[in-house]
Order: sequence, then structure tokens, then C-alpha cells
Amino acid sequence: MANEMKNKIDAILGKYSNPEESLIAVLQEVQAIDGYISKASVEYITEKTGIPSSRIMGVASFYAGFRLKPVGKYRIMVCKGTACHVNGAERIGDTVARVLGIGEGDVTDDGLFSWEEVACLGCCSIAPAMMINDKAYGKLTPDKVQSIIDSIREEAQV
Ligand code: FES
Repeated sequence: MANEMKNKIDAILGKYSNPEESLIAVLQEVQAIDGYISKASVEYITEKTGIPSSRIMGVASFYAGFRLKPVGKYRIMVCKGTACHVNGAERIGDTVARVLGIGEGDVTDDGLFSWEEVACLGCCSIAPAMMINDKAYGKLTPDKVQSIIDSIREEAQV
């Protein structure tokens, strides 16, 4: 693991007098920096605190908010909430998978995109919806999904 990440984890651990009791908060901060909880981060936390890696992994895999795989530069979140579901969310997820050529939870080889299904994004009036990083896209159709992803790809290559 790069020294920069080690320093960041040191700074996080330094904030908590008992990191084991505050493990969820520690992991949330690590994820905020790294985008996910990597094996290397878990091993480093173990090395620094003595908290067994099995315990850290247990917490990280129990809570749905933690990601154990990296995310792409553009993280696509396809809503599978009720309003989106009844408005064809499945087709949207299928389209994202086809356009990117990866399964749910994976990252494209160039690191540009990852996609995952998530619970209600809070913009049901524009169902079916997805978010890419902080931006919401709604009233999606397979064609619209294709053109959104195409235009991000084009921009990223400029
Ligand atoms: S159900 Fe999809 S945004 Fe609410």
C-alpha cells in the first residue's frame, strides 16, 4: 500500500481512542478516501491496532454501506427501488451491463466505470433513475442510458 494511504489511515486511527469500538466510523472514513475497503487497508488497520482482520472484514461485509471492491471513476448506481422497478429498472440495469460489458459490482478494465444496484435514490418522480457520481438521470430508456455512457466516455477521452 502507498505511504500516502498509510498516512491517511494513521490520521483516521489517531482520531479514535478505541478504534475497535469505533470500527464502523473508522471504515466509513477509509471508504470515503479510497472509495472502498481494500484488503490492504484491512491488513494495515490490523497491523496498527491488533484488531483481527477477520473482525474487520466481518463488520465491512455485514453492513450494506461498505464496498469491498473498487469503484470506477464514474460510479453508476442503478435504482432498484419500487417506483423504478415498476418502471423498468431491470431493463436499465441490463443495458448498463451490456454497454459496459461488466457484471453488477464490477469495474471496467480502464477503471472508468463501475455499476451497482442500489435502493431508492430519492428521485422516484423521474423513475426509472440512476446516478452517476453525484448526478441523477431519470426517465431512462435503454437508448438514453447508451447515450449518457457514450458521452461520458467521449468526454473522458478528450
Ligand atoms: S424508487 Fe428509484 S428513485 Fe425512488
